[in-house]
Amino acid sequence: MELAKVFENNQQWIQSKLATDKDFFSELGKGQSPELLYVGCSDSRVTAEEMMGLGPGEVFVHRNIANMVISIDLNAASVIEYAVTHLKVGHIAICGHYSCGGVKAAMQSEYLGLLNPYLRNIRDVYRIHKDELNGIADEEKRYDRLVELNVQEQCVNVIKTACVQKAYRERGLKVHGWVFDIHTGKLIDLKIDFEGILKNIMEIYHLD
Ligand code: CO
Repeated sequence: MELAKVFENNQQWIQSKLATDKDFFSELGKGQSPELLYVGCSDSRVTAEEMMGLGPGEVFVHRNIANMVISIDLNAASVIEYAVTHLKVGHIAICGHYSCGGVKAAMQSEYLGLLNPYLRNIRDVYRIHKDELNGIADEEKRYDRLVELNVQEQCVNVIKTACVQKAYRERGLKVHGWVFDIHTGKLIDLKIDFEGILKNIMEIYHLD
């Protein structure tokens, strides 16, 4: 890829934005109040704003390998804290995707250096749901299901955080689990039982 092309594209993008709204950038400069925090995979095929039809200012984004929310990950925790407590987003969506390389790597026993302790968190998801997953004979279907279960477990991790529980009580913040089907482009709502999960984990993870 010629990186010069990136800067040419940028000039065209500026022109196209100004053509429809001459104040577009001066408005953007005034600040942000997105209503959605999106936590997705870093995979280059899974765009955040583009596949949702959203533009600058509309979604706060965090991406990492396999859309993980790990409690000691200061980066992810800071994004959530800032989005929930300061930007006061109304929704958090954890979005996984089929054919996720991170999830696939966690299904194999290959040693991947520094990635191993990271991928262990996905292997933990496999362990929690081992009975269901091992009951799926077709490897591709098992892989797809692990992608979905990983999204669900990362939603649970988000719901465990104090700021999320507080925002739910005070202003009805909601957490959603989504999967992007890379083969069709479709965004699927897994319809996780947010309130059920919250009630279930409160016994152990109640924070105030
Ligand atoms: Co991925």
